[in-house]
Amino acid sequence: MNSKIFVSPEIEHSTIEELSRQLLKANNELYQLQQEREIIFANISHDLRAPMTAIRSALDLVLSEENASADDMRKTLELIDRRAKTLESLVNDMYYLYKVSSGTKESSYEEIEAIPFLEEYYFDLQINSKYEKFKLELEIDPDSECRFKINVQEMVRVLDNLFSNAARYSGEGSVITLKAGKSNDGKKINIIIMDNGRGIPKEKLPYIFMRTYTVSDSRTPLSNDSGSGLGLAIVKSIIEKHGGTISCESKIGEGTEFFICLPIL
Ligand SMILES: Nc1ncnc2c1ncn2[C@@H]1O[C@H](COP(=O)(O)OP(=O)(O)OP(=O)(O)O)[C@@H](O)[C@H]1O
Ligand SMILES: [Mg+2]
Repeated sequence: MNSKIFVSPEIEHSTIEELSRQLLKANNELYQLQQEREIIFANISHDLRAPMTAIRSALDLVLSEENASADDMRKTLELIDRRAKTLESLVNDMYYLYKVSSGTKESSYEEIEAIPFLEEYYFDLQINSKYEKFKLELEIDPDSECRFKINVQEMVRVLDNLFSNAARYSGEGSVITLKAGKSNDGKKINIIIMDNGRGIPKEKLPYIFMRTYTVSDSRTPLSNDSGSGLGLAIVKSIIEKHGGTISCESKIGEGTEFFICLPIL
């Protein structure tokens, strides 16, 4: 018996075209992922090696200098301590980012009032000595009462990251503002953290949320005022996990604005 199945040439053709299109897309995504992995690997090796080398040299100095004064010894030990902290924060941030973005981090979400949460965060900032040399401002839209479902610890981490960036890259005396209000369609809450600091070069803006990148040309872990360089990558992962988005606008010499949009209940 002849059991040949008839397939319309049009359907067959369009299906094959669609499948090849999908294959090509998947292939490109895989390639990009592979590229990103290689850059991450290179950056991580670089970031780990720099403080490790500093610690090793400082230890060599301590061990070889038999007649070093107590003062010199203390300074060298303090340097070791600083570099060890850099290493610690890098490893912690890498692990945290891996957990958040791979979805393996356990999350407990709470349904809470958005504005009191933000106000409380802001009042905590005001009594935090880290911000005593900055001018903090709060602008809440009066009609923005709403509830959202968040992991409080993670959202505090987002705000901490954005505020410490604003302080770190703005300089003493700068104004850092926290704004909040509902979106025009009333379905979301917009949270803005802005500063009037040094700003981010236009050509570098598209890369700041990437886990492979820091704006400064020398990777930041070497400088005294910086951490792992993964801050914004962590922020973006957390916001996306909450079903939200984050974007950034900035002008050199005028300041930077981070715009978060989160779903409300
Ligand atoms: N408010 C800001 N003003 C100016 N530049 C900023 C601001 N926020 C971020 N940047 C730039 O974006 C880069 C990436 O920021 P990110 O928070 O990811 O890393 P980091 O601050 O270097 O290190 P980490 O946050 O891990 O301590 C920073 O190195 C900095 O150059
Ligand atoms: Mg940062």
